[in-house]
Amino acid sequence: MLNAALTVSPAFVVGPVRPRTFGSFVEHLGRCVYNGIYEPTHPTADEDGFREDVAELTKELGTTTVRYPGGNFVSGYRWEDGIGPKENRPARLDLAWHSTDPNTVGVDEFMKWCEKVGVEPMMAVNLGTRGVAEALDILEYCNIPGGTEWSDQRIKNGATDPYRIKMWCLGNEMDGPWQTGHKTAQEYARIATEAARAMRQMQPELELVACGSSSSDMDTFGAWEHTVLTEAYEHIDYVSAHEYYYEHDGDLASFLGSGDKMDRFIKSVVAVADSVRAAGKHTKRINISFDEWNVWYQQATPSKPPTGDDWPVAPPLLEDVYSVADAVVVGDLLITLLRNTDRVHSASLAQLVNVIAPIMTETGGRAWKQTIFHPFALTANNAKGSVLNVAVDSPALKTAQHGEVAALSAIATHDPETGDVVVFAVNRSTDQVTSLDIDLSAFTGLRVAEALTYTNDDPHWTASADDATSVLPAPNGTVRLNGGRISAELPAVSWSMIRLVPA
Ligand code: AHR
Repeated sequence: MLNAALTVSPAFVVGPVRPRTFGSFVEHLGRCVYNGIYEPTHPTADEDGFREDVAELTKELGTTTVRYPGGNFVSGYRWEDGIGPKENRPARLDLAWHSTDPNTVGVDEFMKWCEKVGVEPMMAVNLGTRGVAEALDILEYCNIPGGTEWSDQRIKNGATDPYRIKMWCLGNEMDGPWQTGHKTAQEYARIATEAARAMRQMQPELELVACGSSSSDMDTFGAWEHTVLTEAYEHIDYVSAHEYYYEHDGDLASFLGSGDKMDRFIKSVVAVADSVRAAGKHTKRINISFDEWNVWYQQATPSKPPTGDDWPVAPPLLEDVYSVADAVVVGDLLITLLRNTDRVHSASLAQLVNVIAPIMTETGGRAWKQTIFHPFALTANNAKGSVLNVAVDSPALKTAQHGEVAALSAIATHDPETGDVVVFAVNRSTDQVTSLDIDLSAFTGLRVAEALTYTNDDPHWTASADDATSVLPAPNGTVRLNGGRISAELPAVSWSMIRLVPA
């Protein structure tokens, strides 16, 4: 048994819980759009062809923003292909995923879906095969009320009111050699700056995200951010970070420490952004949009993109099946994002449906929750108000990949309006229970409203269409509140949420 302690106090505010931390991502990739959110022949399809079952699960997930249309896909995308009468829309090769896109879903359909599920869109422009002019065209189409070629086209296509999309990504992963139109840092810095300047000439209030690194393992990481921010600083608001985590070679201990890797990545990006701020004598701060993160078994992905003359529509790609251990890591990555809420202002779980996703579907059939759905939904739906840094006193665990990591990873939120306090905690030990003592004496008159733990004797258990419910977050009967202190036992490889409300 390990022993760990936390002190939770309303005095230790890191920053607000930002709704955008709970964003997700819909890319034209595999079965995310087609046969994911959209399947007109499905028994639950609405009049626009969207699956109601997926829409309901999306709402339950509590996701807030959805990034679209890519991802690597956006770097070859001609957005005009996806507007107007569907019968006139061309089918195009998607070089990123060696597929064919029928363009049945485009900007207008995506915006309808966002309205239906109640999420904020986050739009990416193509800075791979295209440039400033096309970025301005799609912005005009989406956001200008009317009286111009593109805004009138939108009205003609049925959307009388402008969409007024606030957040725009200036390309995607332009540091990656796999990206169509990949650029050096200097080349990208120029095009991102010019696109941002022009987009702001049209709409100064836009929130713009420049591409940072595709992972902290990129050779160019750090130098890329420095070059891009030095040039683009005054024209953008956020720099992106992308990273995926997975269990290498069965090394569960290192995998469970993935939150420390994400934390180091965030702190490094902040350090570079702030050094550019100081050197450039800028006053504003550049914050982080962590707009792709998840567990992704990239090396063992169940399906590789097709090759040769095979360019299918919506092939099953990247359909990773997640375990309870993966869900524990996803819960810890969310704890890490919240812990950095002062500088991480937006984040997107990649992706939403079928493609490395919390929601899975059968074409023509069932939709179900993967394991990673649970910590995401419980955090998104319960973290409210301010993020509190909890003083963690935890034993360290040795890992091959990250050195020593704390056995306990935790964060708390406090909603000053309702008085609710929620503690999110992960026991990263592979084999030992952690006995947790929480000092809540800075609060008075709380009671435990809910204490849930997600774990399983076999941490590699996965959900399926036939059984998505036999392992669920379950009440943790060890949680006791006594004289301003909570005691709880957290099983090995577990994620927990303890919600306290005024008595
Ligand atoms: O989310 C899957 C892919 O991962 C995205 O298309 C790309 O941006 C990243 O490399």
